[in-house]
Amino acid sequence: MGVPLSERNRAGHKRYKEDVEREGKSFWPYAVLHDAIMSLVVVAVIIVLACIWYFTADGVEAGWLGPWYATEADPGTISFVPRPDWFFYFLFYLLRIFKWPESVLLGTVGIPTILLVLLIALPFYDRRPERRPGRRPVAMIAAVLVVISMATLTWKGATAKEALGSELIAAGKPEEWAQQQGFADNPTAVAGAKLFAESGCLNCHTYLGEGNSNLGAPNLSDIGASGRGVDFFKSYVSNPAQYGNNVMISYGYLGDENLTKLATFLDASRGGG
Ligand code: HEC
Repeated sequence: MGVPLSERNRAGHKRYKEDVEREGKSFWPYAVLHDAIMSLVVVAVIIVLACIWYFTADGVEAGWLGPWYATEADPGTISFVPRPDWFFYFLFYLLRIFKWPESVLLGTVGIPTILLVLLIALPFYDRRPERRPGRRPVAMIAAVLVVISMATLTWKGATAKEALGSELIAAGKPEEWAQQQGFADNPTAVAGAKLFAESGCLNCHTYLGEGNSNLGAPNLSDIGASGRGVDFFKSYVSNPAQYGNNVMISYGYLGDENLTKLATFLDASRGGG
């Protein structure tokens, strides 16, 4: 105490230099060689593990370290729900918090970039020589907050409910909707409800308490009440961009018959009776 911070810093640096002179080894070439050898060992271990995994397995047949893949890729799928590896769950959940198109960039690029820059700049704005945790309240609180928020986001991401079409259909949701909306006697609308559950619409839209509200997509439970009719919905779903909706994909590829089913279902959805 009493001695100004910059002076203490300078004294500490001088002591450190003297220490290195007396008993240290220089960074080049000693530490660099050390790091290079260790990096090569790590890469070699990864290559050996990859070879063991690859050459003992064959397709879905598991070898010593598991199969090549669990199921064959289906490029035609429209109901696949992508999920990241667990160490990206926190980012994945951050994206779910920022649901509106204008804010998605902030959640996915903005916040992680700001945190990264803060971390890289750390040696430049935290210049005190203090190392004891008790004397660094700001750093300690920041560290604890980061750990808690990342753990919470990871946990939320891991337990987040997906709008899985197959599960909704297995749970009899389309029939339940038909009862609730009063279109159970219209087989085209019921078929449309199943298609709606299968086609990933619920990744963005909500419907009678199911699905996720993402990217500003509205609840569709009473979309038919607007009275715009089956033809309008067919045209909308087959090409949303013509109505200024550039977020929703075009479902024209579903074909006329399926579009009719979907549109009949949307038209019959009038808010639960
Ligand atoms: C990627 C997200 C996304 C998916 C998937 C999606 N939508 Fe949309 N949808 C939107 C958004 C966003 C809007 C609102 C656009 C606007 O307000 O201009 C919208 C609007 C709509 C509207 C018009 C609502 C209104 O009040 O005018 C209908 C109908 C609709 N969607 C049906 C569907 C159907 C049926 C599916 C599945 C086949 C589907 N959507 C899949 C994002 C999505």
